[in-house]
Amino acid sequence: MTARPPIAAPSMLSADFSRLAEELAVVDPARDWLHCDVVDNHFVPNLTFGPLLVAAARKLTTACVDVHLMMERPWVMVDAFREAGADVITVHLEACRETREVLHQIRATGARAGLAVRPGTPYAAAAPYLSSLDLLLIMTVEPGFGGQAFMPEMLEKVTAARDERARKRLDFVIEVDGGIGEATARVARTAGADVFVAGHGVFRAPDPRAALAGLRAAIAADPAPVG
Ligand code: DX5
Ligand code: ZN
Repeated sequence: MTARPPIAAPSMLSADFSRLAEELAVVDPARDWLHCDVVDNHFVPNLTFGPLLVAAARKLTTACVDVHLMMERPWVMVDAFREAGADVITVHLEACRETREVLHQIRATGARAGLAVRPGTPYAAAAPYLSSLDLLLIMTVEPGFGGQAFMPEMLEKVTAARDERARKRLDFVIEVDGGIGEATARVARTAGADVFVAGHGVFRAPDPRAALAGLRAAIAADPAPVG
């Protein structure tokens, strides 16, 4: 991962796939990640894309490719996404039975391992895995679709993770995903988030490059001190 937190992560899901090369060119590999949302229509509704398109994205950017698997049985596809070029592979806690094994499997491929929680999943359910993670993804909308409204009540989980990381001297980044724009990114940054996924906020803006610059500026402001 070349970029250092705070990191903006434009989500390809909201891009115009007929102009993918042009769209992905807004992502600055030195500062941003590219977020790829894989939805299987089983774990949650909607059907997006698989390793084939992640491999295409991999050819179009040298940025960290951050793959978010919203799918059942994610362990079956971990190797395929790594081969496609994923740098970070995040699975949902709700989709795993042997969560620790899946995280280990991801790291064994050479990728960084992420764990995501849906809005209805309490922070305490993820807490036992923090020492096995490179990234904790706190969903700030119900997974499945871009363009939904940010759920501010999820920020309690972000702060709980930030505080526990400091207390236990752990080393993972905290990502927020869903409804992120300049204003919501700012509050999420204050709450303790490090990586800010934005789909509509970047790719559906009239000027995606300017929108991404605005998002970077919003998260670059110093967060409030740990309370
Ligand atoms: C939701 C995805 C998000 C989504 C974010 O299922 O995980 O990454 O693309 O889109 P916005 O930023 O439009 O809410
Ligand atoms: Zn996502």
